Amino acid sequence: MNEIKNRIEQLRTELDMHNHNYYVLDSPTISDRDFDMMMKELEELERSHPEFDDPYSPTRRVGSDLSKGFVQVRHEYPMLSLGNTYSISEVDDFVKRCRDALMGESFTIVGEMKFDGTSISLTYENGRLVRAVTRGDGEKGDDVTENVMTIKSIPLRLQGNDWPERFEIRGEIVLPWQAFDKLNAEREFNEEPLFANPRNAASGTLKLQNPAEVGRRGLDAYFYYLLGEDLPHDTHFDNMMAARKWGFKVSAVMTRLKSIADVDAFINHWDTARKELPVATDGLVFKIDSLRQQLNLGYTAKSPRWAMAYKFQAERALTQLKFVSFEVGRTGVITPVANLEPVLLSGTIVKRASLHNADIIRNLDIHEGDMLYVEKGGEIIPKITGVDGAARKADAKAVAFVTECPACGTELVRVEGEASWVCPNKYGCQPQITGRVEHFVSRRMMDIDGIGAETSETLFAGGLVSNIADIYDLTREKLMRLDRFGEKSADRIMQGIERSKTVPFERVVYALSIPYVGETVAKKVAFSLKNIDALMSASVDDLTAIDDVGTRIAESIVEYFAAPVNREIIERLRRAGVCMEVAEQSAAGASDKLNGKSIVISGVFNHHSRDEYKALIELHGGKNSGSISKKTSFILAGENMGPAKLEKASKLGVPIIGEDEFLKMIEN
Ligand code: IVH
Repeated sequence: MNEIKNRIEQLRTELDMHNHNYYVLDSPTISDRDFDMMMKELEELERSHPEFDDPYSPTRRVGSDLSKGFVQVRHEYPMLSLGNTYSISEVDDFVKRCRDALMGESFTIVGEMKFDGTSISLTYENGRLVRAVTRGDGEKGDDVTENVMTIKSIPLRLQGNDWPERFEIRGEIVLPWQAFDKLNAEREFNEEPLFANPRNAASGTLKLQNPAEVGRRGLDAYFYYLLGEDLPHDTHFDNMMAARKWGFKVSAVMTRLKSIADVDAFINHWDTARKELPVATDGLVFKIDSLRQQLNLGYTAKSPRWAMAYKFQAERALTQLKFVSFEVGRTGVITPVANLEPVLLSGTIVKRASLHNADIIRNLDIHEGDMLYVEKGGEIIPKITGVDGAARKADAKAVAFVTECPACGTELVRVEGEASWVCPNKYGCQPQITGRVEHFVSRRMMDIDGIGAETSETLFAGGLVSNIADIYDLTREKLMRLDRFGEKSADRIMQGIERSKTVPFERVVYALSIPYVGETVAKKVAFSLKNIDALMSASVDDLTAIDDVGTRIAESIVEYFAAPVNREIIERLRRAGVCMEVAEQSAAGASDKLNGKSIVISGVFNHHSRDEYKALIELHGGKNSGSISKKTSFILAGENMGPAKLEKASKLGVPIIGEDEFLKMIEN
């Protein structure tokens, strides 16, 4: 028994170390494959020996799928902001002010990056992460511990043993450029609104009620401030170096500076060099190094007198508008795009910038041929931020939003309560048709190899595919009659079509292009209703009873299945052999023992994982709920249920049920 315990501990320690090498030091010393194998071994040992369970195990990094409301927590030390400036000479003035206040004592300044993300305060006790809280209003913030635990570069257990028994460390949660681009590409594909910059994406992600999704998005974190009663050193810099040894990611940019000349050189260097960094930054921060001197300098009501931020100028260019084009997406939404005289901005040539919707064109009062300001601050997508009114010709006409679809000529309609105009000709408008086909066949949906954007258009133009069901009427012969296809490419498509018949039902639901039904909603709806007939006959009430399905989504689903064209498409897909129900195994053993019950899962379990309990609840007719309310039937509680939840449960008189009792409840 002891041997197993030791092996588990050894695997955890080694995996923690490899995570640190990979996510913090960026220098892995083990292959992905070996890492995965160690992880698998640990998972298996933990599964067969729940008595050695530990919520801090590296296997817990994936995060549960469970959503929950955030609890507000008061900061032990308030989270202040920084005085800031865009001018080097004001930074010099800051240094001089410090010099005067320190009465000629010598001092060192630490220069560091100002990361453009969302700030976080972590509390560690006995070397373990116990809480992660957002800045909130500076006095109190949201407890986002469960989400933060999915960020792989944040140590759950510290290395070494020279850390204070209890301390706080503050830093910035960021979404690196690469992860940001990937996320936005996915959102663009799903026609979801894009994040304007990595900061919005990071804070939006951190507030998701779904830790598994948070874990998937690739957040990272840099740390820049250590607080506590017994810190190891009396300078900021040394404390940060100690934190780096404990496992935190501390930026290598952090430098000790001795003079105003050093400070100015640091600014001049990083003003451009920062563009090479993997994460967004919006300035630099200068801090007095000595903690004693920091104390001497003190604070104003809002910010420390011992620190100052220098902000980078957002890059802006002035260029002429050639014309505004209007593009039609898969769901018929019309996006206006400013086509510009090419201009160089932050190292890339900008020719187009989205104008998003009609309101933006009106608010900026854009006229034909206007000179426009384009900005690319933290934003990856260039943004039109203003118009040079003085450069406008007297007879220039205001840019009008189209009233008819630029692709099919149908009169546009405005979505109630939204800024967008939509082409209602869903089944006759080419970009909508080919967009839906393209969506249907893509990798994360039906995964039909060989059909992409261009092929969808060729198939449409050749009269072969004007809706997703037509794909299943394709034959090798029909394909080969089109000039573009040889035997090989035709065979590849036919094989892809055949294979798509094994794609599980939840992905089929996603592939249908029902407006507002993204991947997560498709899964929830599929698992809860089990088959296409139940989905087609579901009412708005039936649908809103499902987790994560709001009225807008429910109405969209009902509307979709009310259309005879769609019902016919479904029948044809069914006849072609496309999967129309959830796999057998997920439906076996079902009962209605938990019908009408709303259940919250909390804590750590021995017999099943949280996801398994979640599935069990749904299997027996219950509903998983993220937060405790008067409507909660009971809490399924494992070990280590959070104190805030306990308190809320007892206040509302919600019963707490242990896992053994729960398993008895659903037993046959
Ligand atoms: S120090 C009391 N250092 O900027 C000083 N802040 O405007 C605490 N930030 O809320 C902050 N990089 O979210 C500090 N290297 C850095 C920073 C940094 C980014 C953010 C932080 C803070 C805001 C202040």
